[in-house]
Amino acid sequence: MEIILQSPLDMHLHLREAEMLKLVAPLSADHFAGAVIMPNLINPITDLEAVKNYRKDILAYCPARNFIPYMTLFFKNYSFEELKYAKEDIVGIKLYPAGITTQSESGVSDFEKISETLGYMQELNIPLLVHGETNGFVMDREYEFLEKYRWIASSFPKLTVIMEHITTAASIKLLEEFDNLFATVTLHHLLITLDDVAGGLLQPDLFCKPIAKTPIDKEALQKAIFAGNSKIMFGSDSAPHPRHKKECCGCAAGIFSAPVALAMLAELFEKNLCLDKLQNFISGFAQRIYKISPVPKNVLLKKQPWQVPENFGDVKPFHAGETLEWQASQVL
Ligand code: NCD
Ligand code: ZN
Repeated sequence: MEIILQSPLDMHLHLREAEMLKLVAPLSADHFAGAVIMPNLINPITDLEAVKNYRKDILAYCPARNFIPYMTLFFKNYSFEELKYAKEDIVGIKLYPAGITTQSESGVSDFEKISETLGYMQELNIPLLVHGETNGFVMDREYEFLEKYRWIASSFPKLTVIMEHITTAASIKLLEEFDNLFATVTLHHLLITLDDVAGGLLQPDLFCKPIAKTPIDKEALQKAIFAGNSKIMFGSDSAPHPRHKKECCGCAAGIFSAPVALAMLAELFEKNLCLDKLQNFISGFAQRIYKISPVPKNVLLKKQPWQVPENFGDVKPFHAGETLEWQASQVL
């Protein structure tokens, strides 16, 4: 069995910098026509020059691969002029609550002070991408943040708001309440629960933010996506960390799923008898929500066993060493 995906898009991706960027950029560019690139670098991307330089670096590491990096700025309070000039070079601005995840220390600590910038974004049609977690109890963080989504979505009804990597049934439900609210869902949150992370021996490679939730939440995510909910796009949140940052005391949050994402999605959708829903989840809905037209790029998914490497450089991928049922390759 085989299917062809047209212009698959990863709407939430961490590519990092320098050697790590060199290692991981081609692995995404091999299978995707484009990706929304997260701005949480060691020095977060907060101006147009940094956006342009980072895009140049990304493209330099994936030559001739027909891959568009859709760039983002790291949210801070910007002036209208700054946003007007940046608009052509970005697809959105990513908001992190301060300190909530990897390299987010300079994120937002006072939500009362961001209205002006959100107003400019609404006026300029620049989408807002949000890491929606409070610093409350770890399993409740996303749920507690929903009131902030309600406030933003209702105060700025023309602002496109993307709830990034949602993990709960409550978040799926909130999508119904506001026309301007959308979401990304990762591969791993469709597959794992907290039990997989910490129910037996601790699995650092499955530790990520937001933490995987309950079986009920996982089922709600699956149900929405398999039904073809057009407000939900695929965003891998593939977030590579070197092994010494994962296999240590104080393990960094992030799952490196880019090399296996398409193959594992094919397997999951096939098992749930909805392979026909994959094209929209992986590209169609994102094109409509972000109003983007990706480069034409066909990716073949073939039902043919494939063993995932144990490592890519110094990074361990999701399902390392396991044999997957499907394999992805670009059709040239
Ligand atoms: C991401 C990272 O490492 O940059 N980590 C993660 O667990 N997902 C940041 C993020 O998206 O939270
Ligand atoms: Zn992320």
